[in-house]
Amino acid sequence: MSAHIIDGKAVAARLRARIATQVTDFVTAAGRAPGLAVVLVGEDPASAVYVRSKGKATREAGMESIEHRLAADIGQAELLALIDTLNADPAVDGILVQLPLPEGIDEQAVITRIDPDKDVDGFHPVNVGRLATGLDGFVPCTPAGCVMLLKETIGDLTGLDAVVIGRSNIVGKPMAALLIAESCTVTVAHSRTRDLAGVVARADIVVAAVGRPEMVRGEWIKPGATVIDVGINRTEAGLVGDVDFAGAMSVAAAVTPVPGGVGPMTIACLLRNTLISAHRRAGIAFDERAA
Ligand code: GUN
Repeated sequence: MSAHIIDGKAVAARLRARIATQVTDFVTAAGRAPGLAVVLVGEDPASAVYVRSKGKATREAGMESIEHRLAADIGQAELLALIDTLNADPAVDGILVQLPLPEGIDEQAVITRIDPDKDVDGFHPVNVGRLATGLDGFVPCTPAGCVMLLKETIGDLTGLDAVVIGRSNIVGKPMAALLIAESCTVTVAHSRTRDLAGVVARADIVVAAVGRPEMVRGEWIKPGATVIDVGINRTEAGLVGDVDFAGAMSVAAAVTPVPGGVGPMTIACLLRNTLISAHRRAGIAFDERAA
């Protein structure tokens, strides 16, 4: 038996095409394009690649990309001052500060400085609270993309057993909140979990976001489960996920590949959040649930 490979690239391309059309409608109604500001501090090569792809996708969707590249030794005060400027700029609908930040800069202080209503990453404590309580805010892009892939693959998620491996603020915790909102029974596992294999074996949905190459073994997975691999690990053998892909393919019903699974969805969801922000800020009606 061989599982279905979930084509995140294709799903993301469809979402981006739809967003591009909605951007055209927004420009007609508002007389301006939605604007996304992306801030890169330092020269982390992986971050530089992500920021370049985000800028390209933003322009391809018909939005304005405002890019700020700052030296690694910039002071925290200067970064906070830039965020204040972007918060006050009416042409900016979304602000994203690429993480991780260089040592010496307090990440939480930076995130908290962003206007929550421009926080298209969904990392500000106000948006974390909105997600936890079911209020409208911004949902972090990677977990939002994972839920879209799950619904596209499975349909209704109600009552399914889901395991999230990893408890980061960027993926694990918001992923758990979103799965609870989809009425799943959610377990959050992490590096201190006892008997991870036993926990994974019960799950209809496995979301792996630990950053350890091929740690989740195919033998652990319940036959017929759906596996979402958030990991991007550079190894000597090339780019691999957090899941033993070949092993998972022989037992699961569906698996996301790395690359071409979750990654493309993250950028598409960032564009979606920016478009939502632009409509809210301009006071133009937009069916966010259908978007
Ligand atoms: N670094 C890794 N993932 C992300 C993300 O989704 N947003 C930001 N800002 N930085 C990241």
